[in-house]
Amino acid sequence: MVLPKVPKALEEAKESSSLALNEEGFSSKRWLAYFQENKKSCPQIVIPATVNIPAAMRPPLIHSLQRFQIGETGEGKHLKKFAARMNDPDYEKCIDMFIKEEQHHARILAQMIAGMDGTLLSWHWSDLVFIALRRLLHLKTEIFVLLIAEVIGKCFYRTCSANLEDPLLSDAFSLIVLDELGHLEFHCGFLRKQFENSPVLVRKFVLLCWSWLFYCACSVFIADHKRALMALNVQPKQFLEDLHTTFRICSRRSLSLEWQEVVEK
Ligand SMILES: [Fe+2]
Ligand SMILES: [Fe+2]
Repeated sequence: MVLPKVPKALEEAKESSSLALNEEGFSSKRWLAYFQENKKSCPQIVIPATVNIPAAMRPPLIHSLQRFQIGETGEGKHLKKFAARMNDPDYEKCIDMFIKEEQHHARILAQMIAGMDGTLLSWHWSDLVFIALRRLLHLKTEIFVLLIAEVIGKCFYRTCSANLEDPLLSDAFSLIVLDELGHLEFHCGFLRKQFENSPVLVRKFVLLCWSWLFYCACSVFIADHKRALMALNVQPKQFLEDLHTTFRICSRRSLSLEWQEVVEK
């Protein structure tokens, strides 16, 4: 099936419509309506049994996609359990639909890997580290760690979308990026509400810890996925800049702080 083209303008429109959802503050009711509408309008993506990817590009791409696929697969039991403690049934439903969107991404990635004659992983240490970190404290910690994975995922999928020549794969990645843009704003809005009454010093401390963890994760990511980035004609330094820019936007939206005012002063 031919997917609709997802141009840059559509990404920008998605970003601003997600932003608009949080304009008057985070509302789980509004986000639930968003997730329901997103489910209804989600195009059916079917990746053919063989995909058009040059042979040299396949091993590094399979290596990277296997790791993302396993990260998107989780059932989110722990996240659901924490969300239940918020006493907000709409937020619980949002988390449930968010997890289903991630599982949908996992299925698309699995089809891509199979189309390149790759196999799926049953576990990977990076996924276990993320799970352990997410469970360390409470829901807010889980969302902060989750957002690190969301930022890295969104940047990597956008890189794939922009640099893969196969139009079907490029479009499939674009559609995943659109979902990830919604996820970023959903979690950022939730955190902003959680921290709206926190003193600036507390938010600065949180941002310092979050930034430290984010840049550690970025270093590990670059080391593990360098070959895929190079195969996609993207220099690791360039990719790091994209990660940095996205993280700065997320930190501003989550903690109402400019990254520079905390880290560079
Ligand atoms: Fe995802
Ligand atoms: Fe996501």
